[in-house]
Amino acid sequence: MKIGIGNDHSALELKAEIIELLKEKGHEVVDYGTYTADSCDYPVYGEAVARAVASGEVEQGILICGTGLGISLAANKVKGIRAAVCSEPYTAKMARAHNNCNILAFGARVVGAELAKMIVETWLDTEFEGGRHQRRVDMIMEIENKD
Ligand code: RB5
Repeated sequence: MKIGIGNDHSALELKAEIIELLKEKGHEVVDYGTYTADSCDYPVYGEAVARAVASGEVEQGILICGTGLGISLAANKVKGIRAAVCSEPYTAKMARAHNNCNILAFGARVVGAELAKMIVETWLDTEFEGGRHQRRVDMIMEIENKD
């Protein structure tokens, strides 16, 4: 799978570990930055990965900031994006199985590297279940067209 990844300065080291894991598992990774430890603004990277997912440039996205919150909030402003902050594998599984989320987010200051890897592996191994969940996901996305 082609996966886009993005982060702010708080997540540089964790991103490198996640990229290594993704490559080990045979995925193609596009890194949208940030690339240095200099303080930066997470909305830039949240938006970049979200636009790449929304346009089909990549199939799914992974976003990491200090908490996962700011960067996912930015991503969720892009039409077509369902970004979920997941701090443990169960939520990651449900975010795919029931919500068909297309971006996984987590916090480098919240989860350690090993837990983050379990979250990512669970995310990648879980398929959307469709059925009644499709109707609900459609309802979420219709909200974008109401304003
Ligand atoms: C940066 O200090 C921090 O605010 C950011 O990484 C993130 O946690 C925001 O939601």
